[in-house]
Amino acid sequence: MRIAMIGSGYVGLVSGACFTQFGHDVICIDRDAAKIERLRKGEIPIYEPGLDRMVADNVRAGRLAFDTRLEDAVGNADAVFIAVGTPTRRGDGHADLTYVYAAAAEIAAAIRGYTVVVTKSTVPVGTGREVARIIREARPAAEFDVASNPEFLREGAAIEDFMKPDRVVIGVESQRARDVMAGIYRPLNLIQTPMVFTNIETAEVTKYAGNAFLATKITFINEIADLCEKVGADVHDVARGIGLDGRIGRKFLHPGPGFGGSCFPKDTLALAYTAREANAPQTIVEQVIAVNDARKKRMAQKVVDFCGGSVNDLRVGVLGLTFKPNTDDMRDAPSLDIVPALKAGGAKVVAFDPEGMNEAAKLLPGIEFAKTAYDAATDADVLVVITEWHEFRGLDPRRIKEVMRQPRIVDLRNIFNPEEMRGLGFAYEGVGRPAPRV
Ligand SMILES: NC(=O)c1ccc[n+]([C@@H]2O[C@H](COP(=O)([O-])OP(=O)(O)OC[C@H]3O[C@@H](n4cnc5c(N)ncnc54)[C@H](O)[C@@H]3O)[C@@H](O)[C@H]2O)c1
Repeated sequence: MRIAMIGSGYVGLVSGACFTQFGHDVICIDRDAAKIERLRKGEIPIYEPGLDRMVADNVRAGRLAFDTRLEDAVGNADAVFIAVGTPTRRGDGHADLTYVYAAAAEIAAAIRGYTVVVTKSTVPVGTGREVARIIREARPAAEFDVASNPEFLREGAAIEDFMKPDRVVIGVESQRARDVMAGIYRPLNLIQTPMVFTNIETAEVTKYAGNAFLATKITFINEIADLCEKVGADVHDVARGIGLDGRIGRKFLHPGPGFGGSCFPKDTLALAYTAREANAPQTIVEQVIAVNDARKKRMAQKVVDFCGGSVNDLRVGVLGLTFKPNTDDMRDAPSLDIVPALKAGGAKVVAFDPEGMNEAAKLLPGIEFAKTAYDAATDADVLVVITEWHEFRGLDPRRIKEVMRQPRIVDLRNIFNPEEMRGLGFAYEGVGRPAPRV
């Protein structure tokens, strides 16, 4: 199959590369000329484990190419995927569909033979139909179908998720489009991946329902963590105790500073907006958004309280800035709330993140970046763990204690063992864990 991928960000680039791995020919398009230039030189503009090698191999094999112009790629394609951004629209929380509709208009002008136009971007229900309308209006004689194929990959594990998904959801409304989509995903039949074929609206709702459910699960355990702190219970044991129940499941029961990232914040907002418009308000999701926003704001205060009511003139070491490990993505990361609030409280912030510091430098002016985790801890009055990068788990607490001015840790991801840290002489506070008995 020949595929054109419109948008070469996290989703477009990973999906495009993985489709070539399925044996298809893919051209990844992006209007950002600098991004395409870098990709052509073999540079990967994002950090995603394994992606550089997969891209290089498939470029070498002649299956993967990059372009800023979509005419030829779309004209020759069996399927065109729209994988452009759908950020939150300013003011009302709805998804900004400007990029999707602009892509649809460009695709309309370039379609030649029968083409399936697939939205892979996360788009509110009704968008697929609007894409069809845009194309039909511009080119009444064009032969095409629209399809919805939401993407469920996680940044940091994107390739594994794409190549071995739990399921593939495909909204289609003609047998011809269904055959094309089934052909694209045929290699996944070999590993018996469930294919969920639905109508277009159902596929669109499924993506938002999935993300909203996961965001709810995170927020639920975060509130349970608050309760645990107050009553002397341990949230990890609670999470294990409930998570072993097959009806609940163990994933997404890790307490932390609140969810962030490129998807959950904007997708919960967009779902709440769509649902209000449809007169079917999602009150649980609305509450999740409010609770999570408040939590992210409260985390800096947790550090301030731990330091006795003020961080003025304190040196605060920060470990981790990205919204989760294994990505350089800073979109809506909790650090964007926590770090400025600490600075506003008079702290001098010195941060280290294994991959996120370039992005973070654009968003967090006025902080110092350290070369290593130990450098961030050096001379610090308190160390705050915001992102649970794997390498932080391997840090030597004795060495951290040696370099810090005051051995104090606020561990917002519970990566350290509280008893061990307290035993070594740290003042230590995690999330949802009992205070030491005195
Ligand atoms: N990032 C994730 O983990 C993830 C997971 C699942 C779904 N999604 C969804 O996938 C979509 C894309 O997300 P992303 O994180 O890849 O975004 P991104 O911002 O990383 O990439 C989008 C790219 O599209 C390009 N673009 C915009 N308009 C264009 C046009 N008309 N022609 C060509 N290129 C154009 C931009 O230059 C940018 O490079 C969003 O709807 C998002 O919600 C993201």
